[in-house]
Amino acid sequence: MKTAKVWRLGMSEMQKLSGSRHRPPLKRPLWIIVLVLFVCLFLICAYIYPTSSGSACYVFTSKGCKVFADWLPPPEREYTDAEIASRAVIHDILNAPHVLPKNPKIAFMFLTPGSLPFEKLWDRFFQGHEGKFSVYVHASKTKPVHVSRYFINRDIRSDEVVWGKISMVDAERRLLANALQDSDNEQFVLLSESCVPLYTFDYIYNYLMNTNISYVDCFKDPGPHGNGRYSERMLPEVEMKNFRKGAQWFSVKRQHAVIIMADNLYYSKFRTFCQPGVEGRNCIADEHYLPTFFRIIDPKGIANWSITHVDWSERKWHPKSYGAGDVTYELLKNITSIDVSVHVTSDERREVQRWPCLWNGIQKPCYLFARKFTPETLDNLLHLFANYSSP
Ligand SMILES: *[C@@H]1O[C@H](CO)[C@@H](O)[C@H](O)[C@H]1NC(C)=O
Ligand SMILES: *[C@@H]1O[C@H](CO)[C@@H](O)[C@H](O)[C@H]1NC(C)=O
Ligand SMILES: *[C@@H]1O[C@H](CO)[C@@H](O)[C@H](O)[C@H]1NC(C)=O
Ligand SMILES: *[C@@H]1O[C@H](CO)[C@@H](O)[C@H](O)[C@H]1NC(C)=O
Repeated sequence: MKTAKVWRLGMSEMQKLSGSRHRPPLKRPLWIIVLVLFVCLFLICAYIYPTSSGSACYVFTSKGCKVFADWLPPPEREYTDAEIASRAVIHDILNAPHVLPKNPKIAFMFLTPGSLPFEKLWDRFFQGHEGKFSVYVHASKTKPVHVSRYFINRDIRSDEVVWGKISMVDAERRLLANALQDSDNEQFVLLSESCVPLYTFDYIYNYLMNTNISYVDCFKDPGPHGNGRYSERMLPEVEMKNFRKGAQWFSVKRQHAVIIMADNLYYSKFRTFCQPGVEGRNCIADEHYLPTFFRIIDPKGIANWSITHVDWSERKWHPKSYGAGDVTYELLKNITSIDVSVHVTSDERREVQRWPCLWNGIQKPCYLFARKFTPETLDNLLHLFANYSSP
């Protein structure tokens, strides 16, 4: 009885509900006009608030916004002569058919003040893979003493490097210029003296050779350590909306290495206007030049994260340095298990940007190398290498 009553009550509620839903249908011309008006409003809004400023994305769903961004005409700015010339060269390099050499190699480019504390570890890493790699050393302070056969006679002509200044970028370009001379080099990895490999040579070789993107760290930081370093004197070619930040430790494919060599326009803007202490800003050229450059010329060609891990979690001026006591199997496995790339903005919102590390569409570990390891960790690393480096 009770259930039947409830059921009847339910029915009458239903009738009431469906009754209230019942409205006379709109006449056809009226709803067409309303629809057309709505579409017009949508178009006008999207045009007035370009999607790059993000405003339109508040009005519409982010998915609709993306579709729209593809649909909108490119911004109405007349390119400068230098820009047209630069785009023509870059377009040609990127679109030229690329034939892989019979024996593609990875160029390991070391940027160091002097001797390399982990040569013994690298020696073990390279052993048995002769012919698949080449080594270049840019020592900016003192002539290194080499202990590994793979490093002997691999010093290139070098010059002084001042942290934060364009001389850092110059050293990177010098390494690329030397490494490009070997036409078998296909991937160009920049490493520091405190970097160590996280995997076996074969794993790293396959990871880098079987993709056609470059691993350049790149994210948008609206805070003081990001856009706060931008100078309007870089206009018109470098707009604030394209200004990006990222760690300098890249791995680039051959076409991108050539493009970096070919660039004079963007490089000279950063050389002049991105320096510590210019107009009260502390612009660090090596943290902004390549991320911004690739954002402008080939945004889809870069992964947006660096394959070299570093721990910024202590939130100090410099990343965490690992001492002998820190280096354990667990630490290295922790680093190699990371498969999401994380960036934090420097404004008060401290927005955390995360994206999965996608390798040819598959989520994989992000990092192939790690820094900063102090020289006294060498013995521990040598001891553990065979164990931790197997994928
Ligand atoms: C890069 O490789 C992916 C898949 O491996 C392919 O879909 C894409 O067309 C390639 N892009 C270029 C520029 O070669
Ligand atoms: C990197 O970010 C840019 C946007 O800044 C995007 O267009 C590009 O697809 C991203 N790269 C990859 C491999 O997802
Ligand atoms: C490894 O990661 C786990 C979980 O995040 C953490 O609890 C542990 O302290 C880490 N160990 C080392 C040595 O970093
Ligand atoms: C590496 O060492 C860890 C801890 O010492 C051990 O659990 C693991 O089985 C070892 N793995 C290999 C591949 O030797």
